[in-house]
Amino acid sequence: MTHAIWETLLQNFSDNAKRYLEDMPKRAIATLSPTLPSADLPQGVQNLDSTFALLQNQVIPQMSASAGPRYWGFVTGGTNPIAAYADWWVTLLDQNVAKGGDSAASDIERQAIEMLVELFHLPADFKGLCTTGATASNLLAVIVARQFVGNQQNIDIAKEGLAALDIEVFSACPHASMIKTLGLGGIGQNQISYVKTLPESEQMDCDDLAVRLAGSNAKSKIVISSAATVTGTSFDDFTSIAKLCAQHNAWLHIDAAFGIFKRLIAPNDPCHQGIELADSITLDGHKWLNVPYDCGVFLTRHQTILQQSCHVDAPYLKNNSPEPDFMSLGIENSRRFRALPVWLTLKHYGRHGIAEWILRNVQQAKQLAQFIDGHPDYELVHPCQLNVVLFRPVLAATSDDLSQACLDMINKDGRLFLSPGKWQGKSIIRAALSNWQTQYEDMIIAEQVLNDAASKLRKAYSV
Ligand SMILES: Cc1ncc(COP(=O)(O)O)c(C=O)c1O
Repeated sequence: MTHAIWETLLQNFSDNAKRYLEDMPKRAIATLSPTLPSADLPQGVQNLDSTFALLQNQVIPQMSASAGPRYWGFVTGGTNPIAAYADWWVTLLDQNVAKGGDSAASDIERQAIEMLVELFHLPADFKGLCTTGATASNLLAVIVARQFVGNQQNIDIAKEGLAALDIEVFSACPHASMIKTLGLGGIGQNQISYVKTLPESEQMDCDDLAVRLAGSNAKSKIVISSAATVTGTSFDDFTSIAKLCAQHNAWLHIDAAFGIFKRLIAPNDPCHQGIELADSITLDGHKWLNVPYDCGVFLTRHQTILQQSCHVDAPYLKNNSPEPDFMSLGIENSRRFRALPVWLTLKHYGRHGIAEWILRNVQQAKQLAQFIDGHPDYELVHPCQLNVVLFRPVLAATSDDLSQACLDMINKDGRLFLSPGKWQGKSIIRAALSNWQTQYEDMIIAEQVLNDAASKLRKAYSV
């Protein structure tokens, strides 16, 4: 009985997945106005064909093609085929990577982390775990950093809470998820002392940081730094910041969600030197590593403090492993085997295979930036430095509304998907290229879409 249903499901999956992949280039990149059947809860078990039909007719056609080559909103990776294959197994295997002692799953996660540390040329004392994404990694950064500063003040935050803690947080251009996690971590979103940025950049002004750290009366300090801000892709000067942190006994966290991948294609570029000096690092798997959602990575060289913050103790959870259990290093007790797609991606593509798609995306972003720079109807608002292109339409008058109208036209077209942003106070359009399968033909299509949107905009505004 069980066997028969698996056979039917596998056959159906194989047939429909093939069709889905074949249709991917033709389908609209986004479903802007989805409609679903009512949320009535069935009372009994449904016939399998009607369940198949529900999924195939109502759900799948209304998804976005975010796994495809022309979804350039936010910072979106699309699963690479090896990672997708591994992820099918993850679901089928249904391992709980909470603690070791019953399978190799925890060892695979440890190896995946070890290989990532090697991939990014980080010192081997960085340990860590897979998370659900960069936001969860940033939350772990807040949790371990507050434990560290608690230790400085003889307060075990995990046990006693935050009430007595005296702390100041410094950052120039933190990602929105970092601000959120300061709230989740009990430190408070409003506790950030904003450091100045350098002119026309989102890079932290180290002189201003030095003045602020020296002037702070807080007993303990945390500095949050960025390796590629989400809009300007600015990298802070990590070597100078790490020196200041050492002088002030401050914890240094670097949010390197996608910027760390620059290390694969430009190992000697000064912009990412010093990342290895961080106390903790956030990176994302479901962005430029192109493994399926949801997968981030948190790394720290202070695993003992991480364990102090996240340790879970109960007689039924005891285990003899010499390594700390993952449930005592992260947020969840029960954990998906999300390390497997990371592990198999690293084992299959290796350093050079991954670097290939990173380099291709960077070149494609430069090509798009050049096209926009030479276009009479668009303005490139910032030179493209990595994989993100920032631009806006220019007609007789340029306004924030015009950017939004242009973005709506681009996304309604269905061949491309971009997202909005702000650069130096102006509303802009943002294209972020981070998909392994984007090709030259996609760049041509994108240029056509941008030309068409410009013509439509001219007509709409009678220019
Ligand atoms: C620099 C940076 N940090 C954190 C995040 C949050 O990532 P996630 O959506 O994986 O939680 C992002 C997402 O774009 C990012 O660009």
